Amino acid sequence: MKVAVLGAAGGIGQALSLLLKTQLPAGSELALYDVAPVVPGVAVDLSHIPTAVNVKGYGKEDLAPALVGADIVLIPAGVPRKPGMDRSDLFNINAGIIANLIEAIADNCPKACIGVITNPVNTTVAIAKRVLEKKGVYDKNKLFGVTTLDVIRAETFVAEIHGKNPAEVNVPVIGGHSGTTILPLLSQTGLSFTDEQIEQLTHRIQNAGTEVVEAKAGGGSATLSMGQAAARFCLSLVKALEGDNSVVECTYVETDGKDALFFAHPVRLGKNGVEEILSYGELSDFEENAKKSMLDGLKKDIQTGLDFVK
Ligand code: NAD
Ligand code: LMR
Repeated sequence: MKVAVLGAAGGIGQALSLLLKTQLPAGSELALYDVAPVVPGVAVDLSHIPTAVNVKGYGKEDLAPALVGADIVLIPAGVPRKPGMDRSDLFNINAGIIANLIEAIADNCPKACIGVITNPVNTTVAIAKRVLEKKGVYDKNKLFGVTTLDVIRAETFVAEIHGKNPAEVNVPVIGGHSGTTILPLLSQTGLSFTDEQIEQLTHRIQNAGTEVVEAKAGGGSATLSMGQAAARFCLSLVKALEGDNSVVECTYVETDGKDALFFAHPVRLGKNGVEEILSYGELSDFEENAKKSMLDGLKKDIQTGLDFVK
């Protein structure tokens, strides 16, 4: 298995690469690419950890060799938010970064599964679709917006309230990855909540990214929890690509368009990426209303991405 991390020298990239160096199956290859000159050093640093995962760093001019032969490409390249910004404020810078990186993926490893972390995810994934389509290599089963951070936050906050071990809590999170488009399905946890708890928890999960941005006070957004979330997603994908077709993760994928063209669902992963988009089941009235009122915003975010690629 070869995994490439694009933006590997950044806050997320370094945390994610550390987790992958220690947790990818023996014999895997980890390719670390970044435009920042420190990236070869990050690779040397990680290479001293005694696991059977081969790490190699690739600088600015070496994107193609970083990608050749990759089975999975994870993309946390781009700028993060500062207090007072929305994720959509990152569009102007990050849209071009994503388009260029995806173009290189299309040229060098068109069959790889791609996990887009760069914000605004609602939009950058749509950009990726169009670039891949233009290159004639789009496979909707292999393009994912990584929304696992919403899931791990939901698991953490629900466990806190119920005094449970977070590892035993399961919260599907559907929709998109910003504000009200993030919709945790608390009705499907098998746990009970008061109406007030549902409102407060939903709001906290939707605003958890902003909670971190404000706490970091200008020093960026979530990196360590995101590193963990992306590693969980990647390791699930690795298992599935290796033949385990029982792995389910919530992720932002192209759907039949019933809600929106891209919509996070529980997805069963398999050898070819998406094996099956699972139904998110019945929603409570609260969730149904929340879904209805966010759909227009999500569709607009997606359209912005589709329109970006001429
Ligand atoms: P960071 O600034 O710490 O790191 C970004 C890295 O990307 C830097 O090392 C930079 O050199 C690199 N980079 C920039 N342009 C590049 C290019 N063209 N090719 C390769 N590398 C490039 O930022 P971060 O905190 O790691 O966040 C990265 C992105 O992830 C942001 O857009 C942020 O909003 C997003 N994010 C998403 C989620 C999510 O849940 N999907 C969670 C947290 C952050
Ligand atoms: C998050 O949810 O933490 C990320 O999307 C980063 C951000 O800007 O909030």
